[in-house]
Amino acid sequence: MLSEYLLAEMNRLGAQDALPLHRQLYEALRRAMLDGKLGAGERLPSSRDLAEDLNLSRNTVVAAINQLSVEGYLASRVGSGTYVNDHVPRSALARGPRAPGQAPQHQPARLSTRGHALAHSFSAGALEVQPFTPGIADFSAFPLTLWQRLQNKHWRMTYPDMLDYNTSGGYAPLRRAIADYLRVFRSVQLDADQVIVTTGTQQSLELCARLLADHGDTVWVEDPAYWGAMKAFIATGLAVHPVAVDEQGISPTPADDARPPRLIYVTPSHQYPVGAVMSLARRHQLLATARTHGAWVIEDDYDSEYRFSGPPLSSLEGLDPDGRVLYMGTFSKVLYPGLKLGYLVVPKGLIEAFRQAHYDLNRPGQMPTQAALAEFIEMGHFASSLRRARQTYAERRHCLLEALRPVLGDGPDAPRISGAEQGLHLCLRLPLAVDDQALARRLAQQGLTVRPLSAYCLQRQDLRGLVIGYGYAALEEIKRCGPVVAAAVRQAIPN
Ligand SMILES: Cc1ncc(COP(=O)(O)O)c(C=O)c1O
Repeated sequence: MLSEYLLAEMNRLGAQDALPLHRQLYEALRRAMLDGKLGAGERLPSSRDLAEDLNLSRNTVVAAINQLSVEGYLASRVGSGTYVNDHVPRSALARGPRAPGQAPQHQPARLSTRGHALAHSFSAGALEVQPFTPGIADFSAFPLTLWQRLQNKHWRMTYPDMLDYNTSGGYAPLRRAIADYLRVFRSVQLDADQVIVTTGTQQSLELCARLLADHGDTVWVEDPAYWGAMKAFIATGLAVHPVAVDEQGISPTPADDARPPRLIYVTPSHQYPVGAVMSLARRHQLLATARTHGAWVIEDDYDSEYRFSGPPLSSLEGLDPDGRVLYMGTFSKVLYPGLKLGYLVVPKGLIEAFRQAHYDLNRPGQMPTQAALAEFIEMGHFASSLRRARQTYAERRHCLLEALRPVLGDGPDAPRISGAEQGLHLCLRLPLAVDDQALARRLAQQGLTVRPLSAYCLQRQDLRGLVIGYGYAALEEIKRCGPVVAAAVRQAIPN
């Protein structure tokens, strides 16, 4: 019987390790699936029944089930319960001994729990970069010759100390240039010594997770979510708790408060992927909620350089009176992703701890490249690249919006656009009856990469749509391919 198996597994795990109860149940359920005790497509007992059978609180059971849903083991179907997903791999343990003469079977790699969650959750890595791939800038516009000249100059001027690891959070003139930019354009309140130069958002997130939370602590993430952040949190052993996003951004309920967070990860100026702009009231509420829980807020300001309409927005960090917001940004969207440079702004009280941990864990370096980037910003090249890029993307965005206009409607369930005010993508929201994953597959066969909105959802079942990027494709391509997307959408909407 399932509950007996789960109890035995939990007792075994509890005896081995001081895991919290929801983690023990999570492990026991996962093992039940891998060992075939719970088969693909099988329905799980309700959380109430499981709580009763296992003598656990319902919150504990819900926390374990949520985590397994987030990691793709389980799927909820509205009104009919929670089921084991079809793609859960069978463990090598379930396989019997090899018969004489039988060819050896290659053992599937025995991944850790964490490795499995990382390898089997949604990833953009496999998707081709082609017209409409979200989140990708047009790096063909990057001023390569100028950049080469600056790099050469700084390599010529390099002295031996510049070849060492860096212990101070990054090259000082670059930290100053970033601080000046953020103070003026994003209303971030900071001194240059609060800036830690990282290899981009993933490293910034991992530093926050490792230094501010312990294994098994809860991190609230927006639902739908940026998959890259999810992966960073899974990799650092945190329990991901999805919190639904509405038109004003993350919207925690009392049920969410029952899973007190240590970290709250948000994209307030352009929620990824639906594009909601967090309202001022919601920003204040979120800061108050963080204060109540004693949580840190991670603000990922990944594409605020490109704001096309609506009032200019300042950062959440700029409203924070308590120093509990960590602000992060990246150069991937304005320069190019392979540059691998981003930044994290930490509250003053955390500077030393972050610098030291960054040194110990990551051994940061690349001083000559950081020096070239500092000069690129100081000499105004960053500002002029940005000006040109904004113009280019504004035209592409306009062209895509025009192509999609014919499929939009006014009714409550009609297709509509969200999040087009900023960034390099928009979200075409579709009626619940549309199979957005099938629609995205159909478009992929025509050489267009859009992402289905439902693939970004962790727990919720009520969102359908297409996340469409306009950064990468040239204007002519958008003119040619925009109507192809519109036609496929029209076809996919049931009459
Ligand atoms: C929400 C969000 N944060 C960060 C990034 C990327 O940052 P980086 O290239 O520094 O990892 C992306 C990329 O699309 C993103 O969507």
